[in-house]
Amino acid sequence: MNFIEEIKRRRTFGIVSHPDAGKTTLTEKLLLFGGAIRVAGAVKSNKIKKAATSDFMEIERQRGISVATSVMGFEYNGYKVNILDTPGHQDFQEDTFRTLTAVDSVIIVIDAAKGVELQTEKLMNVCRMRKTPVIVFINKMDRPARDSFTLLDEIEEQLKIKVRPLSWPINSGPDFKGVYNLFDRSLLLFDPSIQEIQPGIKFAALDNPELDRYIGSDAQLLREELDLVEGVYPEFNHQDYLAGNLAPVFFGSALYNFGVQELLDTFVRIAPWPRPSFTEEREVRPEESSFSGFVFKIHANIDPNHRSRIAFLKVCSGHFERNKVYNHIRLGKTLRISSPTAFMASQKEVIEEAFPGDIIGVPDTGNFIIGDTVTDGEIIHFKGLPSFSPELFRYIENADPMKSKQLAKGIDHLMDEGVAQLFTSQFNGRKIIGTVGQLQFEVIQYRLEHEYGAKCRFDTLNMYKACWIECPDPKILSDFKKRKHQKMATDKRGRDVFMADSPFILQMAQEEFKEIKFHFTSEF
Ligand code: G4P
Repeated sequence: MNFIEEIKRRRTFGIVSHPDAGKTTLTEKLLLFGGAIRVAGAVKSNKIKKAATSDFMEIERQRGISVATSVMGFEYNGYKVNILDTPGHQDFQEDTFRTLTAVDSVIIVIDAAKGVELQTEKLMNVCRMRKTPVIVFINKMDRPARDSFTLLDEIEEQLKIKVRPLSWPINSGPDFKGVYNLFDRSLLLFDPSIQEIQPGIKFAALDNPELDRYIGSDAQLLREELDLVEGVYPEFNHQDYLAGNLAPVFFGSALYNFGVQELLDTFVRIAPWPRPSFTEEREVRPEESSFSGFVFKIHANIDPNHRSRIAFLKVCSGHFERNKVYNHIRLGKTLRISSPTAFMASQKEVIEEAFPGDIIGVPDTGNFIIGDTVTDGEIIHFKGLPSFSPELFRYIENADPMKSKQLAKGIDHLMDEGVAQLFTSQFNGRKIIGTVGQLQFEVIQYRLEHEYGAKCRFDTLNMYKACWIECPDPKILSDFKKRKHQKMATDKRGRDVFMADSPFILQMAQEEFKEIKFHFTSEF
């Protein structure tokens, strides 16, 4: 197979959902199709059940499990599918956001009884920012579900994307009969006692009276609803999907492995192969012959005695080869990756080569930070790994004066891993940690103590948002900084950040300084 064919057969995607919608169950069923696992139950859910805030080892253990399932690759009908797992717990949302920068498309799972939930909306915002193509899977149809048209309206409204159903359910809950596949015009019957995949029954023409034989009086309702579907939703347009403007929708039940194969078969056909990536300097196309990639995730070893980590590198262009000399752009050093790993068929194995779209696990002892670029020579810097404004803020203080060096080093490492964000107040020099969830503060405290021998204390800080500020007029910017001196901080890359105490204060600042743009992400 030549280089271009290798690229075109790759599908690198993420599955996202609000916790409990069925992401883990769907992932597992997809892996079963791909032969990556043999029995159900083999994929451990990486969500931190019941927010075990006091049980740090449990948190770390579960985070450890998620290393193994961080990237799952398998072969399916000639395609190389790479699923990038995302943490289920909302406190690790930032991790999920970053993972979304490494995927070429996304499958969003929605619980048919609950509809669009908060987490789904937030994740979709990130997809929209990046114009990532999304497919929606409405799950749990074996349970009483909300009306299908209402669900689709809700998706359009709340996720702000046009939808086009490619399958249509016949009832739900105990009356769930199955789905009609609008893509290949066939009927799939649901039988909860059978988990094996049944072939669809072709029904090119819905007025075929045979349909009534299969689904009885529901046939009439199906005909009416499909008439409405065809009237309301335009034909599926592949280009609109690829541009991130249209989401095809499937209905099914991941638990009963129903509707999953249709999803996978359609996914490999329509989902994009690796897309171009953007650097500060230029666009990088996957088919370019020189190698380039970036680190989007760093996973620490859960064994505190070995501070080794795995950096996850997404190949963006060219052919990656083990042991070849590459350039670490930020450090201006060369590096040779002697044991790059990939996760194929649930086994972590050393690989000899990789292609655009693939994710490589690189053992690391502290050389990588999130966002690092590796190339075979060219000096470029990948973009698109923004930090998002944290939602919770605390001052971090040294609780053991003898260990201030260890503390500084520990904080530095944990921030490089992307566990949280660090800001330094320009007013009093105090260090502020920003996170998206309470759990991270506890993880930080625990890890600082167990991995770095340092002790810290957190002091309350009531803060609403960190805003990266921008203004074409340096004088106005400098006036603003003087006026808001007490609320100005510096982020880890030395950029100015305005720390707003409340939505009201932010609004006042926006009204007073109209020329200044306030951004909630570090890249704009
Ligand atoms: P998540 O990763 O999105 O958080 O969800 P997960 O797959 O863990 O599913 C959450 C719960 O919903 C699980 O039940 C799972 O069995 C159930 N579930 C997933 N898909 C379906 C479906 O299609 N139909 C039905 N009826 N249930 C489904 P649980 O009891 O919380 O966990 P478990 O003890 O079964 O693992």
